[in-house]
Amino acid sequence: MEKESRYKSKLIELSQSGNLREMKTVLHDREYVIHNGRKMLNLSSNDYMGVGTTAALWKPFLETNVLDAAGTFPGSACSSRLQTGNHEAYGELESTLAKLFHYEACLVVCTGFNANLGIIPALATANDLIVADKLVHASLIDGFKLSSAKLIRFPHNDLDRLERILEKERGNYENVFVVAESIYSMDGDASDLKKLVEIKEKHNAFLYVDEAHSFGVKGETGLGCIEEFGLLGKIDILVGTFGKSMASQGAYLLCSQTIKDYLVNTMRPFIYTTGLPPWSVKWTHFVLNHLVDMKAERAHLANISQLLREGLNELGFETAGESHIVPIILRDLHKTIALSDYLCENGFFVLPIRHPTVPKGTERLRISLNAAISEDQIHQLIALCKQFGK
Ligand SMILES: Cc1ncc(COP(=O)(O)O)c(C=O)c1O
Repeated sequence: MEKESRYKSKLIELSQSGNLREMKTVLHDREYVIHNGRKMLNLSSNDYMGVGTTAALWKPFLETNVLDAAGTFPGSACSSRLQTGNHEAYGELESTLAKLFHYEACLVVCTGFNANLGIIPALATANDLIVADKLVHASLIDGFKLSSAKLIRFPHNDLDRLERILEKERGNYENVFVVAESIYSMDGDASDLKKLVEIKEKHNAFLYVDEAHSFGVKGETGLGCIEEFGLLGKIDILVGTFGKSMASQGAYLLCSQTIKDYLVNTMRPFIYTTGLPPWSVKWTHFVLNHLVDMKAERAHLANISQLLREGLNELGFETAGESHIVPIILRDLHKTIALSDYLCENGFFVLPIRHPTVPKGTERLRISLNAAISEDQIHQLIALCKQFGK
């Protein structure tokens, strides 16, 4: 039998069921994307604060001196941070983040995926228990699979169930890790962080929270839900990425000095990979310094998110959550693709989300708003959805 036949038939099956994923080449022009010659408002980007497309930010950065003291361009770390790759830009960013978030230590790693893939397997052993929300990100799930700890999932945001699991199981394990996100990427809904902190304290568990979708967007200075709920420093393991609101790349982990030192010695996706390009770490730091002051942008984003959700709900569309991620849950793949096509044809770029990213029967459009979008554009979008019909 031909070696690749299994893969070919799977691709045909995916294509026939409308589930084949393909990469589109798109050009970016401020809040728009251009694809196949068509200019569309970008409703599928995670650049929530519109930072990546704001010339007022990237232009001054390009004028700063990113060269090293010796006059060389730090385009790559050229080795792991544990070898010769630990450029001073990392330490500077880590110390700013640790101070802002009120933590003892910060570790900057290559991606959010790497962070989630590596932290749990390094910390949790066969004597330990992981209790995770049913909807946590794929990177966390892959991390659980690499760990020898026992895993129990609780229904999405059901903290009563979480408590019952801990009441029953806590005594059987040495360490327990409760894992959640602060805003969930496909539903746009938030977890009750205050309650999670109460629960982890009561049961002497570690609380691990991924703030990928709230960092930059939530809280007075954009530090995320942890800031919004007055919990700075109170979550044991806090992860967030730079690839979304920061329009950069990489991720942070905020924790105690002991956990940082332990991970530097044991976390495989940290140890065995080239460090982030130092110039990119400098860009992250530059953006961070501006992000804390973007209060008006955060308020505008909250306002247009509410406007869109209310408009869609009035038309009878099913939405979820309460954040800048506004899903239109159509519960049918073909309808979802049809609405995506219709919006794209009319100048709004939004992609369908299908299985396995979301469970079968909950197919949706995931509208990801950003602060560069105007109220007018939201009204136009609502009008188009009305024309398409429920
Ligand atoms: C909740 C969550 N965590 C982590 C990641 C991965 O982050 P990164 O893109 O930095 O690898 C994502 C990205 O989609 C995410 O949604």
